[in-house]
Amino acid sequence: MTVLGIDTSCDDTSAACLKDKKILANVVLSQVLHSKYGGVIPELAARDHIKNIVDIVEQAIAGIGLHNIDGIGVTYGPGLIGSLLVGLSFAKSLSYALKIPFYGVNHLEAHIFSLFIDQEIKIPFIALIVSGGHTELILVKEKGKYELIGTTLDDAAGEAFDKVARMLGYSYPGGPIIQELAASGNPEAINFPRAEVPGYDFSFSGLKTAVLYHLKSQKSKVKSQHPDIAASFQEAVCDSLIDKVLKASKEFEISRIGVAGGVAANSRLREKLNHTEVEAYFPRPEFCTDNAAMVALCANFYLDKNKSSPYTLKADSRANLKIEIRN
Ligand code: KG4
Ligand code: ZN
Repeated sequence: MTVLGIDTSCDDTSAACLKDKKILANVVLSQVLHSKYGGVIPELAARDHIKNIVDIVEQAIAGIGLHNIDGIGVTYGPGLIGSLLVGLSFAKSLSYALKIPFYGVNHLEAHIFSLFIDQEIKIPFIALIVSGGHTELILVKEKGKYELIGTTLDDAAGEAFDKVARMLGYSYPGGPIIQELAASGNPEAINFPRAEVPGYDFSFSGLKTAVLYHLKSQKSKVKSQHPDIAASFQEAVCDSLIDKVLKASKEFEISRIGVAGGVAANSRLREKLNHTEVEAYFPRPEFCTDNAAMVALCANFYLDKNKSSPYTLKADSRANLKIEIRN
């Protein structure tokens, strides 16, 4: 089966082509227009998707041909509503014109499926999805069956990276910049707080405020201090995430942990988690950040079961994973 995947959930226009679950193409266009604003501007993102989607899809199917595609997978939510609408409308039109099924993929489930690209991970496992919009701890009972264990009470982990980078005067996205600065900094230079949240939930707003107060107390924003601030902040985020991962691993007696989403690309998080007792799995960095290959793989799973979505499927900015919430 050949599946075309499309993701326009946020600020990346992406299309991918899979043949028998092997990636033939994965094209990602990251919109640079947001960098000067310190975050994604939804209206600009949607307009840019409209401008680029035809070209990106054409690149993904070059050499394959539209007539050889058996099905389409597209993100219908969660994400920015205007951005989602572009990909979803495009996918529906193409599906109608080619008379092939399409499947509306949940973006979080697609991140879980990124863990199945080029690697085996035995189910059940615990998934930590850490991106610009999400920080979720999910028990993966089987493909398609999930239980939410914990989530963030305020900022997402990636959002905290983006906001701290912005405080320091750097552009969006902040995660890779903080990682680079941190490489030459001392993670123990500043003792930023690790939020004590009950259960498996997370909180990063206190940490973000602590960085802000630290910067204010310094009076001057001396560039030479940035590596230490970045390293100490990054360390606090990693410690908070790993603390809950280890706790969940113990309680559920599951040692396999799959980390996905943009923050899963963070080298310090990978290094620290690899030094714990859990068996940690990460996608390759290009499959951590948003990409259509993971969407196509997820859709492939459902299309194989003859499941497809109706043309009445609506984009849903707050779509959830139909997960059971633990009491
Ligand atoms: O998964 P993703 O591409 O988009 C969402 O679904 O949100 O994640 C983007 C987020 C941004 O907040 C970005 O700063 C963060 O992932 N990120 C990182 C790194 N690379 C991307 N955060 C920390 N370290 C990185 N190396
Ligand atoms: Zn994402």
